[in-house]
Amino acid sequence: MIHVDPRERNFIIGTTILLLIFGTAVLVSSFAFGFQVPAPVERLDPKLVATPGQSPWGDPVEERVRELAPNKYEVYILAQAWNFQPREIRVPVGSTVTFMVTSKDVQHGFRLDGTNVNMMVLPGEVAKLTATFDEAGTYNFVCHEYCGVGHHTMYGQLIVEP
Ligand code: CUA
Repeated sequence: MIHVDPRERNFIIGTTILLLIFGTAVLVSSFAFGFQVPAPVERLDPKLVATPGQSPWGDPVEERVRELAPNKYEVYILAQAWNFQPREIRVPVGSTVTFMVTSKDVQHGFRLDGTNVNMMVLPGEVAKLTATFDEAGTYNFVCHEYCGVGHHTMYGQLIVEP
């Protein structure tokens, strides 16, 4: 039997307990609360992203909310200093919406209240997350990465209609 100093042993026990607590927290948040990690799904050229014909973010803003199937939508949101396009999105209640967000200039954020949608938006990358809306109402989204003097004016709304 190796001799372990009691203080060292307590330290080992304490850190093991902490690791178990943190590990449990990660597992509970991923399975019980639907924790999602946004991964960059696609790379593109931020200089061309808003050019018509070059990408879905170059399409007219009213065509960026696409109905793929009944109650299944895809929204292409372009972040730029200092707004989101589209700024107002309307879907019927019960919809599943996939948010495809990219930036044409600097780093922005996209956080949608009342959901697990929370992503960093980087120029040249597409951030993608999906949420389902079973309750009608207005869900606000904001930019939560400081992006300059107009940062606080960067927001919009998703309106889930009954
Ligand atoms: Cu965009 Cu802060």
